Amino acid sequence: MPIAWNEKSGIFHLYNNRMSYLIQLVHGKYPAHLYWGKRVQILQPSSILQFKGRAFSPSTEPGNPAFSLDTLPQEYPAFGNGDFRSPAYLLRSKDGSTVTEFVYDSHEIIKGKPSLKSLPASYVEADSEAETLVITMVDSMLGMGMNLYYTIYHDLDVAARSVSFENRGSQNVVLEKCMSMSVDFHHSDWDWLHLHGTWGRERHIERKPLHHGIQLISSSRGASSHQHNPFLALLSKNANDEYGEVYGFSLVYSGNFQAAIEVSSFQTTRISIGINPFNFSWLVKPGELFQTPETLMVYSSDGLGGMSRTYHKLLRERVCRGTYRDKTRPILINNWEATYFHFNEKKIKEIADAGKDLGIELFVLDDGWFGHRENDKSSLGDWFVNKKKLPNGLDGLADYVRKKGMKFGLWVEPEMVSPDSDLYRKHPDWCIHVSGRSRTLSRNQLILDLSRKDVCDYVIQILTMLFKSTQISYVKWDMNRNMTEVGSAALPPERQKETAHRYMLGLYRILETLTGRFPQILFESCSGGGGRFDPGMLYYMPQTWTSDDTDAVERLKIQYGTSIVYPAITMGAHVSDIPNHQVGRTTPLLMRCHAAMAANLGFELNIDKLSADDKKVVKEQIRLYHRIKELVCFGNLYRLLSPFDGMDVAWMYVAPNQERAVVFYFKTLATPNPPFLRLKLQGLDPLESYKINDGKLEYSGDELMKIGLNLPLIKNDFSSFIFLIEALKGKSMYIESRWSLINLI
Ligand code: DGJ
Repeated sequence: MPIAWNEKSGIFHLYNNRMSYLIQLVHGKYPAHLYWGKRVQILQPSSILQFKGRAFSPSTEPGNPAFSLDTLPQEYPAFGNGDFRSPAYLLRSKDGSTVTEFVYDSHEIIKGKPSLKSLPASYVEADSEAETLVITMVDSMLGMGMNLYYTIYHDLDVAARSVSFENRGSQNVVLEKCMSMSVDFHHSDWDWLHLHGTWGRERHIERKPLHHGIQLISSSRGASSHQHNPFLALLSKNANDEYGEVYGFSLVYSGNFQAAIEVSSFQTTRISIGINPFNFSWLVKPGELFQTPETLMVYSSDGLGGMSRTYHKLLRERVCRGTYRDKTRPILINNWEATYFHFNEKKIKEIADAGKDLGIELFVLDDGWFGHRENDKSSLGDWFVNKKKLPNGLDGLADYVRKKGMKFGLWVEPEMVSPDSDLYRKHPDWCIHVSGRSRTLSRNQLILDLSRKDVCDYVIQILTMLFKSTQISYVKWDMNRNMTEVGSAALPPERQKETAHRYMLGLYRILETLTGRFPQILFESCSGGGGRFDPGMLYYMPQTWTSDDTDAVERLKIQYGTSIVYPAITMGAHVSDIPNHQVGRTTPLLMRCHAAMAANLGFELNIDKLSADDKKVVKEQIRLYHRIKELVCFGNLYRLLSPFDGMDVAWMYVAPNQERAVVFYFKTLATPNPPFLRLKLQGLDPLESYKINDGKLEYSGDELMKIGLNLPLIKNDFSSFIFLIEALKGKSMYIESRWSLINLI
């Protein structure tokens, strides 16, 4: 039973074999946070809360000045009754007041995990995988209910939290803030880590000590954004990739978010994450319910690496869905950086032909195939093939590609409209805008108003026709701008601040419908690269184009940073041309291949123009990729050397049964007269013997992890190596001596 409740002490103990989460109902009213961390063996610890009256901290309990909400470690704190820290929610009633008095009403313990209304979320395949606690709080004056959801997984150190607000009263209320979770840690001796960036430089790692007051990251762009990923972690001071306690918070949402940390004057730390309250409100009428997105909270006592591996398993197996969830992905060739908008059928066929010869499995036709799109100034919304470029239509091209034995994939950007498009001329009010105001363009385009049902229905209809008309195996779903003049022509004034969240709900409905209708299509999401790389999108589309920056050196940082939360199977990675189109750098083809082979391998260059020698390299690397792709996609990741720390970069993926592993090692800039380096591996079976790259030498897992793997002396910039490590499975010559050593110990 992973959720225990003791009525006498008021303690809820959510636990699995490794993790405990303890909540205590204080005075039968307020859910207080007791503990979250390593499994506490005793189910009902004696109360560990301490109370003391503090100057200027008011008390809601007459005659008990020691009790104050201002100092109580809370699970979902309110504003207005004495807690002056950041509230988890703010609700305005008819009289204009934001004061509420939610207190405990009841609770329920459910087997499994209920799904979230209209929102992506983690899930279970059998009720035995998890248990869910629902604590219902009530504000009797308003007749409002508030349900706090906590799911604890049996085999993963994950607590999934969300909240729903239910208006059971008779008056309208307006939610002005409703975070998905809040938690108060009893000390503040932490570092915090988050993933920041911009276009072409996504998810770089930043780690800083906490300071008093509020530190936060957020997006108000209408997308989770290139700038901040909807994730943060708290790390104990001694934590690194292998050791120490780490707490992760990842929001399953693709729109505006806020993740905040507040350190109080008594050294407590409050964390919350959820929809960004800035420029948000939601009217909840009597009988209506508002559901927040979900937060995936991960605990690790094995450092950041342990946290990442838990997220990887959770996202791969219980957030991603569909036909491709448990499958490696086809190696693709995409024409974008080869041609940009300037292609014709002949050119596309040449790329596809060359790709096929080299062993590529999927051809993807990128932007520029529709309307009269010759550049980024027109045609978004007119999803009809441009016969000038493709006289035999999409079908003709797709047939050609399929007959060669490759799959056919297509780029679309369905959330957008160009002012120069038939769609915009017909429906100028179908974009996000504020009546009478300018419509600010970005990449010459506007955003369709997906908060409107009619617009969403249209998008579903037009894409259903498109995906039915041609046999498509893969779709790249792009989104190339952020929101301005946020408003909807279809919403009344009091609901205008709902536009951005309604947009996300509309988008999620479109994606749910289309991925359901076309289960054979592999969808890859994209937003100018990784501008919407989040668990919400992964629920519908199991991979994301990691970044528009395809330079191999830059990619090491981007992919390493992305791996903090997201598994390699969710990352698209392409080999592109040199000098690189984003940074002008020239790196060897081998390094470009190796960087891309650490995720879902693809190519994006004039592959038909490669020299015979380069074609040989590509063929060899594709052959190697087939040997390692299961490990990359489904193995456990161990980060070994960080690109944020120096010129040597390494990570490895280990099969769950520890029989195989693959190590990636990169040297960005070479050092004159370099020292010998040994790379200590991780995650292997210490008692197993392994061979490396089919070599004759044998190494025990123990020595590879403790003594290390000798790295080659490197003379050149941009060098890279892949080491494939395979267990000898009893064929070891050393097996006798190894066992005798162990027996001696
Ligand atoms: C942005 C994407 O990230 C690129 O890969 C490419 O598809 C372009 N859009 C096309 O406009």
